Amino acid sequence: MRIIGPDELVFGVDNIEDCRAFLSDYGLTEAEDGLFEALDKTAVRIKPVDDPDLPPPLPTSTKIRQTIWGVEDQAALDAIEAELSKDREVRKSADGTISCKDDMNFEIAFRVTRRVELNLPAELINSPGAKPGRAPNEIGANQDAEAKPRTLSHIVYFVPDMEAMSKFYIDRLGFVITDQFTNTGPFLRPQANHDHHVLFMIQTPEYMQGLEHLAFHMQGPTELMLAGSRMVQKGYESFWGPGRHKFGSNWFWYFSSPLAVNIEYDADMDQHDGDWTLREAPMSPENSQLFLFENVEKWAPGGPPPGKS
Ligand SMILES: [Fe+2]
Repeated sequence: MRIIGPDELVFGVDNIEDCRAFLSDYGLTEAEDGLFEALDKTAVRIKPVDDPDLPPPLPTSTKIRQTIWGVEDQAALDAIEAELSKDREVRKSADGTISCKDDMNFEIAFRVTRRVELNLPAELINSPGAKPGRAPNEIGANQDAEAKPRTLSHIVYFVPDMEAMSKFYIDRLGFVITDQFTNTGPFLRPQANHDHHVLFMIQTPEYMQGLEHLAFHMQGPTELMLAGSRMVQKGYESFWGPGRHKFGSNWFWYFSSPLAVNIEYDADMDQHDGDWTLREAPMSPENSQLFLFENVEKWAPGGPPPGKS
């Protein structure tokens, strides 16, 4: 099952203008009405909550209506259709997208990915003992850098039955576990993506079922910090971060959003292949991050101690 990762996340919202402002300020581009794209055209789509084209909602407060997975090619799509048709209704739309429910009743869809290949520079750093990353006179701190999300990275679901949910993605769709928190969901990687995870899940009571957070990859830690600082300056609420996770090694900064999910910037996630052996650790603050910072007001020497003004 050559699944690459989430291509598009569809939400039904009753606060379209708040969501539009948030997603634009976050750095996505509104390519068409309600469709907010990263640089590679992976996207978040918002529609009015009563739009008849939306799949039905879950009986909880979550606003996610559909997760559209991008696959490598038509053969991958056909293989998924054949597999899932064994025990559920799989619908096919005019553009070839197939859709159904997963084993926790989330609406899911699959299509040949609409991602465009990016050819962009990595964050360049100078590190003693290594060849300089930047040429002489090339500066690293650019206040005006665009800092745009590059691609949809991963999603995290709240689910009432983590075992059943992970089993569906592993047994039916070929995801593999990279790492695991004991008694919490595994980090899952699909077959056509080396990223540490594109899917994670957290066991919760049934009434909480929904999407917990989504994340887009940034160029690197510097653009993550820059984009997050801009969100703080615009008055958005930092939920968690900035910091760096242990499992996956990705830098993170999460913001509360009007889509009723946390929306994360991430950067520099580990990549894995079939030679990796999964690690397991208890879920704890110590295991959830290598370090965690709190953003404070900008400061200059001579003023009151930073963060104390
Ligand atoms: Fe995340």
